[in-house]
Amino acid sequence: VMPQDTVLSESQHSTQKITLGYSQLGSESDWRKANTNSVKESAKEAGITLLFENAEQSQEKQFEAIRSFIKQKVDVIAIAPVVQSGWEPILQEVKQAGIPVIIADRSVNVTDSSLYVTFIGSDFYDEGRKAGKYLLDKMKGRPGPIGIVELQGTMDSSPTIERKNGFREIIDSRADLKILKTRSANFTLEQGKKVMQSIIEELGEDIDVLFSHNDDMALGAIEAMEEAGLRPGIDIVIISVDGTRKSFEMMVQGKINAVVECNPLLGMNLMQVVKEIMGGKNLPKRIVLPESIFTQSIAEREINNRKY
Ligand code: AHR
Repeated sequence: VMPQDTVLSESQHSTQKITLGYSQLGSESDWRKANTNSVKESAKEAGITLLFENAEQSQEKQFEAIRSFIKQKVDVIAIAPVVQSGWEPILQEVKQAGIPVIIADRSVNVTDSSLYVTFIGSDFYDEGRKAGKYLLDKMKGRPGPIGIVELQGTMDSSPTIERKNGFREIIDSRADLKILKTRSANFTLEQGKKVMQSIIEELGEDIDVLFSHNDDMALGAIEAMEEAGLRPGIDIVIISVDGTRKSFEMMVQGKINAVVECNPLLGMNLMQVVKEIMGGKNLPKRIVLPESIFTQSIAEREINNRKY
């Protein structure tokens, strides 16, 4: 227990310089770049010193960054984890150093929930469900079989696992909706294009629907479709996730049918949480921000409001 005269009030804490170490998983997508900008700008605005490391999709590099944050004695560590598994040992190291951890964006799979204070990020499971519901609605009255291709994100990452499961939970109610192919394209435009090219070669006109786990892969897939003489949005219904400006442009052009929102602008919420932890406040284990779904009918009106 600190002697009475050294106990800081919450306002004194907020004027004290806080140092946050942020381990970002990579820069694979426009979503990720917007997320990075949001974290950097919000730290500046909140007067928090930020140590930022980009792991370029390597969990090993994330471990290195976290160890360097421990060495530099930061006040709080935030981690956007590339994959879900394998975090227990490093989080034990952070716990031993007495540094509170915030999990941001993607979740970790650990049995000991005392290893982090809170997890702030989207409900990916619900995003998958929203994509499924849109598809059921779109295909109402259209006779099957309806052939679906799924482009998955990074394997073992929580958005991939949960979007995949949420989508299936909904479309399983119609037996003639068939997932013909499901392949990972690692959340990038380049791989989205490559993987889609090879799927088109295999399946050709049997593809009625593309469910892409993010916008970048959808943009790559659109290029592949057009090069193969297929009309995205017409011959193939496209449902994507994120809500980047580029995906809105594609909706305006009729090439993407719907985009489930995933909001990368978490910076201000994150800084708020950092300050609350430093102020000794109790936080909920899970913080989810509300999100929606965008369709072609609102894309034109909304496109200029997109911040990334
Ligand atoms: O974890 C969020 C996902 O990661 C976004 O949907 C995707 O674009 C990003 O790479």
